[in-house]
Amino acid sequence: MCGIVGAIRSQGPVLRGLVEGLRVLEYRGYDSSGVAVVLPGGIQIAKRQGRLENLEAVLQDGALEAASAGIGHTRWATHGEPSDRNAHPHRGASGKVAIVHNGIIENYLPLKNELLEAGVTFESDTDTEVLAHMVDREFARTGDLSAAVRAALARVQGYYAMVAVAVGDAGSMMVCARQGPPLAVAWSEDGAYLASDVLPLLPYSNQVTFLEDGDMAVMQPGSVTITDFSGNPVTRTSREIEWDPEDAGKGHYPHYMLKEIHEQPGVIARTLEGRLDEKAGDVVFENDQLQDAFLADISRVQVVACGTALHAGYIASYLIEGLARVPVDVEFASEFRYRDPIIVPGTVALAISQSGETADTLAATRLAKAKGARVISICNVPGSSQVRESDQVILTRGGPEIGVASTKAFTAQVVAAVLLAIRIGRAKGTLSADDARGLLVELRMLRNQLEELLSENMRTHIKDLARRHAAAKGFLFIGRGVNYPVALEGALKLKEISYMHAEGYAAGEMKHGPIALIDPGMTVVAVNSIGRVADKVRANIEQVKSRGGETVSVGSDPESHEIAGQSIKVPACSEWLSPILNTVPLQLLSYYIADLRGCDIDKPRNLAKSVTVE
Ligand code: AGP
Repeated sequence: MCGIVGAIRSQGPVLRGLVEGLRVLEYRGYDSSGVAVVLPGGIQIAKRQGRLENLEAVLQDGALEAASAGIGHTRWATHGEPSDRNAHPHRGASGKVAIVHNGIIENYLPLKNELLEAGVTFESDTDTEVLAHMVDREFARTGDLSAAVRAALARVQGYYAMVAVAVGDAGSMMVCARQGPPLAVAWSEDGAYLASDVLPLLPYSNQVTFLEDGDMAVMQPGSVTITDFSGNPVTRTSREIEWDPEDAGKGHYPHYMLKEIHEQPGVIARTLEGRLDEKAGDVVFENDQLQDAFLADISRVQVVACGTALHAGYIASYLIEGLARVPVDVEFASEFRYRDPIIVPGTVALAISQSGETADTLAATRLAKAKGARVISICNVPGSSQVRESDQVILTRGGPEIGVASTKAFTAQVVAAVLLAIRIGRAKGTLSADDARGLLVELRMLRNQLEELLSENMRTHIKDLARRHAAAKGFLFIGRGVNYPVALEGALKLKEISYMHAEGYAAGEMKHGPIALIDPGMTVVAVNSIGRVADKVRANIEQVKSRGGETVSVGSDPESHEIAGQSIKVPACSEWLSPILNTVPLQLLSYYIADLRGCDIDKPRNLAKSVTVE
């Protein structure tokens, strides 16, 4: 999804900071980028299709270096193909206003026709340029940028995060507005900054204020004034973001994804920190979250999420039903939001999202809430829309996840789901303190077991498997019970970064169709841990082998490893916790195959890190 940055300072350059901010946002996926800055002669714009390097090449001449106010954008094309002329920023005819925008202006065509009839000429095919001309014409009339933005947005239908920069008699001006996609602001004594994500703001301040839908903000060096679209003052509290800007770097790793795979032991330990009460045989959450009073009358749970987060939601359904004996339904958020779902009294929606800005998950959450459900969210970004719109929140403490393929966020989501299932079971009296205590002890062992899975020997073994299967004509990942969603996740990881065809399936379904796919070119990865269905998955491995399929068993079941052609041995643990361990070898397998195939692992084609539009 598109990325936005903006900076206005009392003095001193902003360009380098804008470009660095765009670089931090690269992971969101884009096809062009650009900046607009205020210089004595007016607004100057530089923009290029393709990677950020193309823009940096244009900026080499230093012509824009002196500017103390400017905006920047990475574009993920919606209206108008990726090209220099369709890249943002866009400006009006006066040359005194430029804007960048995330989202979609749904009524841009009638507005564009009105401008064409008024004699306006367009440089691009974008809906954003329509907004630029509207703001520009109002600003030319009044010289008041806030009024000009308000007047333009009053006529716009759709959703947007936008920022306008202008130069007038009073010098540089900057105004931003939010209706949908996220926008956050921060300030220091001599500057004010904005971005569509927390990360670009951290070098300036770790006190960040998130705008809500319907907010506008006037950005001035040292202050930000937030109002509604009518100009009435609005109070928004800033949040301290404990992420270190360094966390957003790759360190010594070749890719963010590999770094984040290796961060998992620490992330899981942080997600557990302070939440395990072995004495009481219970889980306790900070800020009085998920107390008995909130949980005791839950009658059913409705999971809504997308992609990898949905796979964590599937695992959560097995955990909550198995440990707390509460019925759970799971649905793609993109399906739930258009299904006119039935929400019975006592329903709690469980929304899971790494970014907290996924449009479908937010829409599903709002629909469930409108129909009477209370909302618990498992989320990785403090202050995100998902967090702010939920009744109760479990933060996964994963730190920034930059790689498009979600890894550490997933295992942390599953850990959070284990904690939630235990807490619900204890609040409803359906899980004994002793049974809970046994799980708490095993949760504390996860860090060492994860370190074992990331050892040099294990990585060498998985690299060897990657070499043997990188040219397979397809993959089938199979599993049962809590490891069925692990099969789905293993397939998603492989397909999204290596572009190979891979499918996750409930192992018991093999005979109902997928077994027709089996032949020597097809690799079947069977996820199987010691537990109630281990013998059933062994039988599935035998079925595949007897038809000449390549089999790889992943898990703690020793007999599966004897049967399968190849194996990845995972430390034994409670079946309930096995998805957390079984996923890691699948993440590494996908990573090494994608690396062998020369794929762009951190920024896979067509994908964005956070899908903030539907
Ligand atoms: C996972 O590897 C993908 N990048 C994608 O499926 C992602 O999980 C999905 O878009 C949901 O994102 P969220 O967790 O930020 O809501």
